[in-house]
Amino acid sequence: MNLKQQAAQQALSFVKNGMVLGLGTGSTTTYFIHMLGEKIRSGDLVDITGVPTSNGIARLAEELGIPLGSLANLEPDQNLDLAVDGADEVDPDLNLIKGLGWALLREKIIESHAERLLIIVDESKLVKKLGRGPLPVEVVPFEVEIQVRWLASQCGRAELWLEESGEPVVTDNGNYLVRCWFQQGIRNPYDLARLLADRPGIVEHGMFLDMADLVIVAGDGGIQVKERT
Ligand code: A5P
Repeated sequence: MNLKQQAAQQALSFVKNGMVLGLGTGSTTTYFIHMLGEKIRSGDLVDITGVPTSNGIARLAEELGIPLGSLANLEPDQNLDLAVDGADEVDPDLNLIKGLGWALLREKIIESHAERLLIIVDESKLVKKLGRGPLPVEVVPFEVEIQVRWLASQCGRAELWLEESGEPVVTDNGNYLVRCWFQQGIRNPYDLARLLADRPGIVEHGMFLDMADLVIVAGDGGIQVKERT
Protein backbone atom coordinates (compact mmCIF):
# COMPACT_ATOMS: atom_id res chain seq x y z
CA MET A 1 0.00 0.00 0.00
CA ASN A 2 1.25 3.49 -0.76
CA LEU A 3 1.17 6.21 1.92
CA LYS A 4 -2.17 7.67 0.80
CA GLN A 5 -3.74 4.20 0.98
CA GLN A 6 -2.28 3.66 4.46
CA ALA A 7 -3.82 6.94 5.68
CA ALA A 8 -7.14 6.00 4.08
CA GLN A 9 -7.14 2.58 5.72
CA GLN A 10 -6.49 4.10 9.14
CA ALA A 11 -9.47 6.43 8.65
CA LEU A 12 -11.78 3.42 8.31
CA SER A 13 -11.31 2.66 12.01
CA PHE A 14 -13.14 5.93 12.80
CA VAL A 15 -16.25 4.86 10.87
CA LYS A 16 -18.98 3.17 12.90
CA ASN A 17 -22.32 1.61 11.94
CA GLY A 18 -25.13 4.11 11.43
CA MET A 19 -22.91 7.11 10.67
CA VAL A 20 -23.71 9.90 8.24
CA LEU A 21 -20.37 10.64 6.61
CA GLY A 22 -19.08 13.57 4.59
CA LEU A 23 -17.14 12.17 1.63
CA GLY A 24 -14.28 14.40 0.49
CA THR A 25 -12.75 14.70 -2.96
CA GLY A 26 -9.27 13.82 -4.22
CA SER A 27 -7.00 10.84 -4.72
CA THR A 28 -6.56 10.01 -1.00
CA THR A 29 -10.28 10.19 -0.37
CA THR A 30 -10.89 8.05 -3.44
CA TYR A 31 -8.86 5.27 -1.80
CA PHE A 32 -10.92 5.73 1.36
CA ILE A 33 -14.21 5.55 -0.54
CA HIS A 34 -13.17 2.33 -2.29
CA MET A 35 -12.30 0.78 1.10
CA LEU A 36 -15.57 2.05 2.60
CA GLY A 37 -17.52 0.53 -0.30
CA GLU A 38 -15.84 -2.83 0.32
CA LYS A 39 -16.78 -2.74 4.02
CA ILE A 40 -20.38 -1.91 3.15
CA ARG A 41 -20.64 -4.63 0.52
CA SER A 42 -19.17 -7.22 2.89
CA GLY A 43 -21.63 -6.23 5.63
CA ASP A 44 -18.86 -5.16 8.05
CA LEU A 45 -20.39 -1.68 8.07
CA VAL A 46 -24.13 -1.14 7.96
CA ASP A 47 -26.51 1.80 7.79
CA ILE A 48 -23.90 4.23 6.42
CA THR A 49 -24.98 7.32 4.48
CA GLY A 50 -22.43 9.34 2.51
CA VAL A 51 -22.75 13.03 1.68
CA PRO A 52 -20.49 13.68 -1.32
CA THR A 53 -18.48 16.89 -1.86
CA SER A 54 -18.36 16.71 -5.66
CA ASN A 55 -20.26 15.26 -8.57
CA GLY A 56 -17.33 12.93 -9.31
CA ILE A 57 -17.30 11.50 -5.80
CA ALA A 58 -21.10 11.12 -5.88
CA ARG A 59 -20.78 9.03 -9.06
CA LEU A 60 -17.98 6.91 -7.59
CA ALA A 61 -19.86 6.31 -4.33
CA GLU A 62 -22.98 5.28 -6.26
CA GLU A 63 -20.98 2.83 -8.37
CA LEU A 64 -19.55 1.32 -5.18
CA GLY A 65 -22.97 0.91 -3.59
CA ILE A 66 -22.55 3.55 -0.88
CA PRO A 67 -25.98 5.00 0.00
CA LEU A 68 -26.00 8.78 -0.50
CA GLY A 69 -27.81 11.64 1.18
CA SER A 70 -27.45 15.38 1.51
CA LEU A 71 -27.27 17.99 4.26
CA ALA A 72 -30.96 18.66 3.67
CA ASN A 73 -31.75 15.13 4.95
CA LEU A 74 -30.33 15.98 8.38
CA GLU A 75 -32.59 17.05 11.24
CA PRO A 76 -32.26 20.79 12.07
CA ASP A 77 -30.05 20.05 15.09
CA GLN A 78 -28.19 17.14 13.50
CA ASN A 79 -24.64 17.21 12.09
CA LEU A 80 -22.71 14.74 9.98
CA ASP A 81 -21.07 12.31 12.39
CA LEU A 82 -17.77 12.54 10.58
CA ALA A 83 -16.30 13.91 7.36
CA VAL A 84 -13.19 12.38 5.78
CA ASP A 85 -11.13 14.31 3.27
CA GLY A 86 -7.61 14.91 1.99
CA ALA A 87 -5.67 18.17 1.97
CA ASP A 88 -3.00 19.92 -0.05
CA GLU A 89 -1.23 21.46 2.95
CA VAL A 90 -1.47 20.94 6.71
CA ASP A 91 0.25 23.37 9.10
CA PRO A 92 1.24 22.71 12.74
CA ASP A 93 -2.13 24.10 13.99
CA LEU A 94 -3.93 21.71 11.62
CA ASN A 95 -5.05 24.56 9.41
CA LEU A 96 -5.31 23.46 5.82
CA ILE A 97 -5.15 24.42 2.21
CA LYS A 98 -7.58 22.41 0.12
CA GLY A 99 -9.12 22.65 -3.31
CA LEU A 100 -6.39 21.69 -5.75
CA GLY A 101 -8.84 18.97 -6.80
CA TRP A 102 -11.35 21.79 -7.61
CA ALA A 103 -13.92 20.90 -4.94
CA LEU A 104 -13.22 23.42 -2.18
CA LEU A 105 -16.64 25.12 -2.03
CA ARG A 106 -18.74 21.98 -1.56
CA GLU A 107 -16.07 20.54 0.72
CA LYS A 108 -16.24 23.59 2.96
CA ILE A 109 -20.05 23.71 3.01
CA ILE A 110 -20.37 20.03 3.88
CA GLU A 111 -17.44 19.80 6.28
CA SER A 112 -18.61 22.81 8.27
CA HIS A 113 -21.59 20.59 9.22
CA ALA A 114 -19.47 17.73 10.56
CA GLU A 115 -19.11 16.85 14.23
CA ARG A 116 -15.54 15.87 13.37
CA LEU A 117 -13.44 16.52 10.31
CA LEU A 118 -10.83 13.83 9.76
CA ILE A 119 -8.07 14.67 7.27
CA ILE A 120 -5.98 11.96 5.62
CA VAL A 121 -2.63 12.84 4.07
CA ASP A 122 0.81 11.52 3.33
CA GLU A 123 3.65 13.32 5.05
CA SER A 124 4.52 15.41 1.97
CA LYS A 125 1.50 17.59 2.80
CA LEU A 126 2.92 18.83 6.13
CA VAL A 127 4.15 22.45 6.00
CA LYS A 128 5.51 24.87 8.57
CA LYS A 129 3.40 27.67 7.11
CA LEU A 130 0.45 27.62 4.69
CA GLY A 131 1.15 28.89 1.19
CA ARG A 132 4.07 26.68 0.18
CA GLY A 133 2.05 25.93 -2.95
CA PRO A 134 -0.85 27.79 -4.58
CA LEU A 135 -4.04 28.77 -2.78
CA PRO A 136 -7.11 28.08 -4.95
CA VAL A 137 -9.85 30.70 -4.85
CA GLU A 138 -13.30 30.13 -6.39
CA VAL A 139 -14.70 33.19 -8.19
CA VAL A 140 -17.79 33.93 -10.25
CA PRO A 141 -17.01 34.09 -13.99
CA PHE A 142 -18.45 37.62 -14.33
CA GLU A 143 -15.58 40.14 -14.73
CA VAL A 144 -13.09 37.49 -13.66
CA GLU A 145 -10.12 39.53 -14.95
CA ILE A 146 -10.60 42.14 -12.21
CA GLN A 147 -10.58 39.40 -9.57
CA VAL A 148 -7.33 37.96 -10.93
CA ARG A 149 -5.77 41.43 -10.96
CA TRP A 150 -6.90 42.16 -7.40
CA LEU A 151 -5.78 38.77 -6.11
CA ALA A 152 -2.34 39.30 -7.69
CA SER A 153 -2.09 42.65 -5.87
CA GLN A 154 -2.82 40.87 -2.57
CA CYS A 155 -0.66 37.78 -2.87
CA GLY A 156 2.08 38.37 -5.42
CA ARG A 157 1.03 36.15 -8.31
CA ALA A 158 -2.43 35.01 -9.34
CA GLU A 159 -3.59 33.21 -12.45
CA LEU A 160 -6.91 32.01 -13.74
CA TRP A 161 -6.72 28.19 -13.66
CA LEU A 162 -6.94 26.86 -17.20
CA GLU A 163 -7.54 23.40 -18.60
CA GLU A 164 -4.99 22.02 -21.07
CA SER A 165 -7.36 23.19 -23.81
CA GLY A 166 -6.85 26.78 -22.60
CA GLU A 167 -10.44 27.05 -21.35
CA PRO A 168 -10.99 28.04 -17.70
CA VAL A 169 -11.52 25.23 -15.22
CA VAL A 170 -15.23 25.23 -14.32
CA THR A 171 -16.19 23.92 -10.89
CA ASP A 172 -19.26 21.81 -10.09
CA ASN A 173 -20.90 25.11 -9.15
CA GLY A 174 -20.28 26.73 -12.53
CA ASN A 175 -17.55 29.04 -11.18
CA TYR A 176 -13.91 29.61 -12.11
CA LEU A 177 -10.80 29.04 -9.99
CA VAL A 178 -7.84 31.37 -9.52
CA ARG A 179 -4.55 30.08 -8.12
CA CYS A 180 -2.61 32.47 -5.88
CA TRP A 181 1.08 32.10 -5.05
CA PHE A 182 2.78 33.68 -2.04
CA GLN A 183 6.50 34.21 -2.21
CA GLN A 184 7.06 33.65 1.51
CA GLY A 185 3.95 31.74 2.42
CA ILE A 186 0.75 33.21 3.87
CA ARG A 187 1.73 35.63 6.65
CA ASN A 188 -1.63 35.64 8.45
CA PRO A 189 -4.24 33.18 7.12
CA TYR A 190 -7.01 34.65 9.31
CA ASP A 191 -6.47 38.19 7.97
CA LEU A 192 -6.34 36.89 4.43
CA ALA A 193 -9.52 34.84 4.94
CA ARG A 194 -11.37 37.96 6.16
CA LEU A 195 -10.08 40.01 3.24
CA LEU A 196 -11.23 37.42 0.70
CA ALA A 197 -14.60 36.94 2.39
CA ASP A 198 -15.31 40.69 2.06
CA ARG A 199 -14.66 40.84 -1.67
CA PRO A 200 -17.76 40.67 -3.91
CA GLY A 201 -17.30 38.07 -6.64
CA ILE A 202 -15.05 35.83 -4.56
CA VAL A 203 -17.16 32.84 -3.62
CA GLU A 204 -14.77 30.88 -1.38
CA HIS A 205 -11.10 30.17 -0.81
CA GLY A 206 -9.15 27.02 -0.02
CA MET A 207 -7.99 27.88 3.51
CA PHE A 208 -9.79 25.64 6.01
CA LEU A 209 -9.02 27.32 9.32
CA ASP A 210 -9.92 25.75 12.68
CA MET A 211 -11.89 23.05 10.90
CA ALA A 212 -9.80 19.86 11.05
CA ASP A 213 -10.19 17.91 14.29
CA LEU A 214 -7.88 15.04 13.44
CA VAL A 215 -5.20 14.53 10.82
CA ILE A 216 -3.90 11.08 9.93
CA VAL A 217 -0.41 11.42 8.48
CA ALA A 218 1.14 8.42 6.76
CA GLY A 219 4.90 8.54 6.45
CA ASP A 220 7.83 6.23 5.89
CA GLY A 221 8.16 5.97 9.68
CA GLY A 222 4.53 4.88 10.16
CA ILE A 223 1.16 6.48 10.88
CA GLN A 224 0.70 9.48 13.14
CA VAL A 225 -2.66 10.85 14.31
CA LYS A 226 -2.60 14.56 15.13
CA GLU A 227 -5.44 16.07 17.12
CA ARG A 228 -6.36 19.75 17.24
CA THR A 229 -6.07 21.06 20.76
C1 A5P B 1 -10.08 18.54 -3.50
O1 A5P B 1 -10.56 19.73 -4.03
C2 A5P B 1 -9.00 18.83 -2.51
O2 A5P B 1 -9.37 19.61 -1.44
C3 A5P B 1 -8.31 17.56 -2.06
O3 A5P B 1 -8.79 17.11 -0.85
C4 A5P B 1 -6.86 17.86 -1.97
O4 A5P B 1 -6.50 18.44 -3.21
C5 A5P B 1 -6.02 16.62 -1.70
O5 A5P B 1 -5.99 15.81 -2.81
P1 A5P B 1 -5.19 14.46 -2.90
O6 A5P B 1 -5.78 13.55 -1.89
O7 A5P B 1 -5.42 14.01 -4.30
O8 A5P B 1 -3.75 14.77 -2.63
